[in-house]
Amino acid sequence: SYRASLLRFDDAGRPQFDEDGLLVVAPDATGRQRVVDAGPHAAVAPRHPDASVTHWPGRILAPGFVDMHIHFPQTDIIGAPADGLLPWLENYTFPAESRFAEPAHSAAVAEVFFDELLRNGVTTSLTFATSHVASVQAFFASAQRRGLRMITGKVLQDRHSPDGVRDETAQSLADTESLIRQWHGVDRLGYAITPRFAPTSTDAQLRGAGELAAKYPDTWIHSHVAENKDEVKWARELFPHARSYLEVYNGFGLMRERAVYAHCIHFDDEDRRLMRSTKTATAVSPTSNLFLGSGFFDFEGADRIGYRYGLASDVGGGTSFSPFATMMAAYYVGREGQTKPGISIAPSELWWRHTGGAAEALGLAGVIGNLQPGCEADFVVIDPKATPLLARKTGLAANLEELLFAMIVLGDDRLIERTVISQALPA
Ligand code: GUN
Ligand code: FE
Repeated sequence: SYRASLLRFDDAGRPQFDEDGLLVVAPDATGRQRVVDAGPHAAVAPRHPDASVTHWPGRILAPGFVDMHIHFPQTDIIGAPADGLLPWLENYTFPAESRFAEPAHSAAVAEVFFDELLRNGVTTSLTFATSHVASVQAFFASAQRRGLRMITGKVLQDRHSPDGVRDETAQSLADTESLIRQWHGVDRLGYAITPRFAPTSTDAQLRGAGELAAKYPDTWIHSHVAENKDEVKWARELFPHARSYLEVYNGFGLMRERAVYAHCIHFDDEDRRLMRSTKTATAVSPTSNLFLGSGFFDFEGADRIGYRYGLASDVGGGTSFSPFATMMAAYYVGREGQTKPGISIAPSELWWRHTGGAAEALGLAGVIGNLQPGCEADFVVIDPKATPLLARKTGLAANLEELLFAMIVLGDDRLIERTVISQALPA
């Protein structure tokens, strides 16, 4: 067990903070550490008289962050400037991704990627690989070795894509199914059926993806939608019979629980209602949307209709692996178009949207993200005094919201003293 300050969330997403807390963990039948008790030290300690205690004075234990949308093969193209999404894909993204046909390159970048995620306190991500099977194999092999709960899938893109990243319809679907059988549900790994976005897939490929999604209902579906005005226009031209860009996916059976679409910026209320009725989730990626000039996610619209969403970095369109940077950008974007007076999004809500709320949107509520009993013990050890300014500012915080906001505004990977993973590495 671990004694320190403790940040957790209840099922409704309300923060619970114990200044002097105790987190009690124990291995389950598979050797995975799970939370068995958590709360104020004075209340919890007497219930576990035999537990050995690691004391981390002055530190805060909090759930590992959950990144709902990130591209591991784009690690090296963070900060590549372009005049919007489509030129960025053509000039930087596709050339960089074409290198992942090579297993050695895929494996090398996967290591850099996981090191960077963990340095930033991210313990689970829903992740784009590339259209090459090698990229998926490298990702899962490394995640398995590290004992991580991770999700990825082979990108499907059989048209409007250059040589080197374009795949072939029948082969792409066969590869997807064999990767599902090889990896989905093995240890803590999950498979996501991953059409890149509707403009780069034929009807046949989207239909095949939808059929696999129905055949394997607890896999994820992962794509992009309504990110950029030029992209929306292009999708509308390619699929003139769909009511909206989003409805293209619904028509192919690609909206359901565990379907996650990045961006969802250029939506109307009918789109939002379709998200709600199908239990589909949005991965909100504000640093990417600001960097590529895509637009502003409508938080008020999402809350008014009431559908699932959580936060994501979208590296390499996104500019940082750090959840603090993403939460800060979400705060800025939450101001945009805001109609109600008051602050933008509460610091504790921003934090929940990147931990327990993101887990819930992924269909992993109670598994990861909130440090409640039963939850897998993936957590971060935060040093709120990691820099001189953080020490000053967190020391001045009068309440929990001020403390969380100080860390969101000033924080980066230096705040994350260590990241603890629930599944011990095999000997
Ligand atoms: N739409 C299709 N592919 C991509 C991608 O790689 N990044 C982003 N941000 N949007 C996309
Ligand atoms: Fe993306």
